[in-house]
Amino acid sequence: MGNDLITQAAQRVAELKGYFVDHERFVPLAEGFSILAEKRLVDIQTGRISEAQGLALSGQSGAGKSAAITHLLAQEGQRLADRGYGDSTIISLRVPSPATLKFVGQMLLRALGYPIGADRHAWYIWDLVQHHLKERRVLFVHLDEAQDLASRGTKHELDSVTSMLKTLMTDPEWPVGIILSGTNELEDILNHDHQLARRMKAVRFESLSPAAYGEDILDLLENYCELAKLEPEDDVLELSHGERVVHAAANQFGITIVLILDAIEDAYLQGQKTLNRRNFIRAYHRRTSCDAEFNPFVVPDFMRIDARQVFSRENRR
Ligand SMILES: Nc1ncnc2c1ncn2[C@@H]1O[C@H](COP(=O)(O)OP(=O)(O)OP(=O)(O)O)[C@@H](O)[C@H]1O
Ligand SMILES: [Mg+2]
Repeated sequence: MGNDLITQAAQRVAELKGYFVDHERFVPLAEGFSILAEKRLVDIQTGRISEAQGLALSGQSGAGKSAAITHLLAQEGQRLADRGYGDSTIISLRVPSPATLKFVGQMLLRALGYPIGADRHAWYIWDLVQHHLKERRVLFVHLDEAQDLASRGTKHELDSVTSMLKTLMTDPEWPVGIILSGTNELEDILNHDHQLARRMKAVRFESLSPAAYGEDILDLLENYCELAKLEPEDDVLELSHGERVVHAAANQFGITIVLILDAIEDAYLQGQKTLNRRNFIRAYHRRTSCDAEFNPFVVPDFMRIDARQVFSRENRR
C-alpha cells in the first residue's frame, strides 16, 4: 500500500464525511426547532416577552445526536441571517467536567467570548452570562453531552445548574432557549426536574432494528457508493448484509454511517473500483480488533455478537 494511496484515500473519505444524511428521523427535530425559533422571533418583532422554550434530544451513543444538532444549528444560523437576524446567535458547547454551576458558567462565558478567571463567585459569573446573552442577542444555548450534568457533580450541583437553565429561559428581559443533547441518562435528569421538562420539547433518536432497517441501510449504502464512485458488488446488496451492518453498528444510525465509510476507505486503500463484503470484514476488524469469530460480517449467526464489545477473542489455550 503506497503512501499516495493512503493520502488519496484519506482525502476522498474526508470529502464523504462532509455529507450530512437527511434521514427521516431528522424531520421531527428540525420541525420542533423551527417552531421554537419562529415563536421567539415573533416575540422579538412584537416586543413581547414570554418564556423561551427548549428542546432535548436523547439517544444512545453513536445515534447521531451531535451530528444532527451541529447540522441543524448551522442551517438555522443561515436561515436567521437570510431573514435579517444575522446579529442573533446560537451558542453551542459541550458540558464541561466537572459540571459544577461555576464551571458551566465559566465555559458559557468563554463561548460568549468573555473568558474570566476562576477566582470569581458563581453568582457573579452567571450575572455576566445573562448580561452577555442579552448583549449578543443569543437566542439559543446548546449543551451537548448534557447527561454529564448529572455525572460528577453532587445532586446539589445538578439542581443548581438546572435551576440556572430555567432562570435563563424565564429571564424577564431576554429569555434564552436551551437545547440539550445527550445519552438516555439525559431523560432521567428531565424526569427529575418537571419544571425544566415542561419547558422542553423532547425528541429521541431511537435505535434501529436490523429487521426494520436492513433495506433502508442498503439504500444508504448504495447512495454512499455512488458518491464514492465505487460499484457495490452483489454480496453487499443482499438484505442480510443490510441487517449485518445495522447489527454491527450496535443498531445506531451514526455508527452505521461510520462503518460504511470505513469499508469505503478500505476499498480505496486496496485500490478497488468496487465495494464488497471483505471491505466490511476488515473495517469491522480495524474498529474493534475482534477475532473473526466475533465479526458480524463473517459468522452466519451474527445476531449473537455483542457489537459494543472490542478486543473479543476466542478462548485460546
Ligand atoms: N446524519 C448524518 N450524516 C452523516 N454522518 C452522520 C450523521 N449522523 C451521524 N453521523 C456520523 O456518525 C458519527 C457519530 O455520530 P454522533 O457523534 O452525532 O453521535 P452521538 O449520538 O452524538 O454519540 P455520543 O452520544 O457518543 O456523543 C459522526 O461522527 C458522524 O460521522
Ligand atoms: Mg455526541
